[in-house]
Amino acid sequence: MGSVLVTGIGELATVDGTGPEGLGLRHDAAVLVEDGLVAWAGAPSAAPAADRRVDVGGRAVVPGFVDSHAHLVFAGDRSAEFAARMAGQRYDGGGIATTVAATRVATDDELDGLVAARVAEMRAQGTTTVEIKSGYGLTVADEVRALRIAGRHTRETTFLGAHVVPAGADRSAYVAQVAGPMLAAAAAYARWVDVFCEPGSAHAFDADEARTVLTAGAAAGLGLRVHGNQLGPGPGVRLAVELGAASVDHCTFLERADVDALVGAAATTTATLLPGVEYSTRSPYPDAAALLRAGVSLALATDCNPGTCFSSSMPWVMALAVREMGLTPAQALVAATAGGARALRRTDVGRVVVGARADLTVLEAPSYLHLAYRPGVPIARALDL
Ligand code: NIG
Ligand code: FE
Repeated sequence: MGSVLVTGIGELATVDGTGPEGLGLRHDAAVLVEDGLVAWAGAPSAAPAADRRVDVGGRAVVPGFVDSHAHLVFAGDRSAEFAARMAGQRYDGGGIATTVAATRVATDDELDGLVAARVAEMRAQGTTTVEIKSGYGLTVADEVRALRIAGRHTRETTFLGAHVVPAGADRSAYVAQVAGPMLAAAAAYARWVDVFCEPGSAHAFDADEARTVLTAGAAAGLGLRVHGNQLGPGPGVRLAVELGAASVDHCTFLERADVDALVGAAATTTATLLPGVEYSTRSPYPDAAALLRAGVSLALATDCNPGTCFSSSMPWVMALAVREMGLTPAQALVAATAGGARALRRTDVGRVVVGARADLTVLEAPSYLHLAYRPGVPIARALDL
């Protein structure tokens, strides 16, 4: 691999926790990359020698985005559902069955091609780490297949057999299957287990069911993640905190006790906000600024999926978080990089610091501020070195 010196960085946001808002901003910088890792960062005049140089022409460089929540293994189309929602229909998780049917009949090659295209689409918008969930198979064979395919594209694979109760299935028998034989078969291909905990939805799982699946997942050696408090107030956040989950995602409807629990668990559990979902389901946006002020550990992710947010764009998510959730552009960038890394319990991504992976994203702009300032404009791309 050798060494590469990235020069001509007009503005470098290291997100190393130093300086105003923890951005670790440097102007006129260079980064030395050795064997895929950051070996040095500083002023160009002090740069060590390298085998090669890549000049980014005065552009801004930020850590590659860490999209810690995505459902990329699916086939089919649900755009009509989106149109119906924009006309006033509510989301309740029922549409997931449509995607399950289309995904089950797709071939392995078709699904693999779809995932590859989605991961490439993300990388072209600056995302360098992505978590990928199963959850559109809902049989032992189909969930294992989804995880095997996901594992070709990321090490952050999540078993989501408890996405919904499949049509026609007996609820308690299905929970027993997920926590039993399905988990046993899936565990070898997954790093995480996740549950759609939403007692208000007829399709999703209540607190007891979620606990059954999550504790079985933990016993099988998997880390925990939870979809919680998406459609209304509920037990998801507090269950995630109680069980020591790495992340509880959505957090659209939070009560005071949920915020208190998240503050108390900030060293363990990250609240991952998904503003693309509020956009695509016409839901209220949670107050991210208030959560940060209270001391909650915060991440931003896309939730890229065919139902509630079919966008792979972390810059758009950051723009929504700034405009609709009260974050500063710096806070949004931190949540989309170091925050996502924390939600995945990773210390090697999300920051440009010595020893971290050299996942650099270059902006067609002089400053990271343009991420929220130029929504919908493809200014971010992962740097190929
Ligand atoms: O994160 N809430 C549950 N799961 C997804 C939506 C899945 C779908 O509708 O296909 C979510 O919003
Ligand atoms: Fe999701």
